[in-house]
Amino acid sequence: MSIVKINAITVPADSGDELARRFAARAGAVDGQPGFEGFELLQPTDGRNVWLVVTRWADEESFEAWKNSASFGRGHGRPEGAAAGAGGAGAEGAAPGAEGAERQRPVGMSAELWSFVPADLGR
Ligand code: HEM
Repeated sequence: MSIVKINAITVPADSGDELARRFAARAGAVDGQPGFEGFELLQPTDGRNVWLVVTRWADEESFEAWKNSASFGRGHGRPEGAAAGAGGAGAEGAAPGAEGAERQRPVGMSAELWSFVPADLGR
């Protein structure tokens, strides 16, 4: 059964468009990762400042492998080959750091990783 990992990114008011542009620029970055089944960027329509990156994976291991991969690092501000943080990309993940003078500032102020599986409805 697939699993669902949601990254909930809080952005400053009026920064959502920039977030969407950055996702558009990197949308293909996760394609072809083993076990990756798709993602959507969900934009709030009720005035809140939280955008959801809803991703679907074949299993937990596939997601963990991607999160620890250079591919994830490239898309999230880590230089080639740098390891992902042990705790994964939770709040304050991928903060601008040592490597970062040249790096674009992240749009998000914070991010939270949520994990779900489709509930068993017994049908
Ligand atoms: C559930 C899986 C994911 C996690 C845990 C995650 C983690 C994060 C975190 C912590 C941030 C905020 C920090 C930062 O800006 O670097 C972020 C932003 C971002 N992520 Fe992800 N992400 C996930 C999925 C994806 C996917 C599938 C894509 C696109 C293929 C993606 C592309 C981006 C982009 C473009 C930003 C905005 C970076 C910026 O503001 O410059 N993420 N992600």
